[in-house]
Amino acid sequence: MSNDELISKAYEAMKNSYAPYSKFNVGAVALCGEKIYMGCNIENAGYTPTNCAERTAFFKAVSEGKREFVRIAIVGGRQGEMAAPSPCGVCLQVMAEFCDPDSFFIVVAESESDYEIRSLRKLLPEGFGSGNLADCIQ
Ligand code: THU
Repeated sequence: MSNDELISKAYEAMKNSYAPYSKFNVGAVALCGEKIYMGCNIENAGYTPTNCAERTAFFKAVSEGKREFVRIAIVGGRQGEMAAPSPCGVCLQVMAEFCDPDSFFIVVAESESDYEIRSLRKLLPEGFGSGNLADCIQ
């Protein structure tokens, strides 16, 4: 699936964004194998239970037994003003759990034709990962 197709699906996902507090709506689409998983941000009055669009998409895929992530496209902004949001650290950490940082790419888009692509390695160069727990893994 092309980047512009992924981005247009991310806009579709953003329509379900539930963001009454920040009013910052985000949509994300993870390409996983041949399938796509759409996610939006879901806020909460307790603030900390809020789930970002990227994690929603990732958790949908993993919960359905899919982990072969190829790319993710992200769109979003406040009250309709598109801002090309880069993923937060928590979402990058979730991506790092399942993806090879050199071959997983993050498409941050302002529109279908205006976007930037970055590797997970670039956005999370020295993160904590399963390698740090090698002694604990049986
Ligand atoms: N948010 C995302 O869903 N993804 C991002 O990449 C950045 C931030 C959400 C979380 C919260 O609902 C709102 O945007 C403002 O932080």
